[in-house]
Amino acid sequence: MVQIMSNNQLTESGQLHHFLTIEGFKKSLLTEIMDRAEQFSSVSNRQVKKVPLLRGKTIMNLFFENSTRTRTTFELAAKRLSADVMNLNISTSATSKGESLLDTLHNLEAMHTDMFVVRHSESGAAEFIAQHVAPHVSVINAGDGCHAHPTQAMLDMFTIRRHKQHFADLRVAIVGDILHSRVARSQIQALATLGVGEVRVIGPRTLLPTDCKTLGIHIYHDMEAGLKDVDVIIMLRLQLERMEGALIPSAREYFQCYGLTEDKLQLAKPDAIVMHPGPINRGVEIASSVADGPQSVILEQVTHGIAIRMAVMSMALGAQPEVVA
Ligand code: CP
Repeated sequence: MVQIMSNNQLTESGQLHHFLTIEGFKKSLLTEIMDRAEQFSSVSNRQVKKVPLLRGKTIMNLFFENSTRTRTTFELAAKRLSADVMNLNISTSATSKGESLLDTLHNLEAMHTDMFVVRHSESGAAEFIAQHVAPHVSVINAGDGCHAHPTQAMLDMFTIRRHKQHFADLRVAIVGDILHSRVARSQIQALATLGVGEVRVIGPRTLLPTDCKTLGIHIYHDMEAGLKDVDVIIMLRLQLERMEGALIPSAREYFQCYGLTEDKLQLAKPDAIVMHPGPINRGVEIASSVADGPQSVILEQVTHGIAIRMAVMSMALGAQPEVVA
């Protein structure tokens, strides 16, 4: 029987079981995820894009909130590992007839499910589910409210490592709506754990969390100062669906102050990379010429999402990577 230890994510022997947040994980585990993803990257370039690592396992995608990239890459990752994967359409499931989340969950569990991949608009939803599943079932957080999006952060770290190799020498700027961003929260935790040189957040006061200073990050309200000599720029979407009240004057004014244009990009190091977790809003947080420009690695991030999710799912289900070859 799997015994889950104190941070609710590792087994007694220190193996990954649930992946709910980056918080509390050691650098060695984050590195292991990236190293394993490196092994899986080549699978997508094969004629037969499959390895038999999770043959016989059943994975359920439970997306209670919209998604394009995360849901699709989790599904592809599961299929490339040869698992049986089901996408539960929440709008047509029995939850829309009044069935509780736990009843739905236990019914799906009764179908011999080995893993749930969960996206939910409420912070803490994935952890709640992890607390109520049978001990052998793994839960992966695919984004919960403003709280965490750990596999997104890992694919972002993987993309940075591919381009910059060493985290210690890097200056990374995260720009925009940090306050409502589960991605930024997980990225900041991952960057700190991996020992990045400097993390900056740039945005208007209304979109920065009050605990920024305690997180050990450098705060800027001005793009000109904040982008100076950075190696990595991570742009974020304005998360209007999570905002209460008007926190910015207008999208046009926001773009003028905080939108990444070719001129502002010149302030960063000449070999700086531009990232964005998506979905992007052209002309709001990023100019099309930058999003489609030579320094953008935005679509590469999406591609790396498959390998990172293959790595996380195989580790959580205890599959050994030797089978990859
Ligand atoms: N980055 C991200 O989570 O995108 P989706 O909402 O499309 O999954």
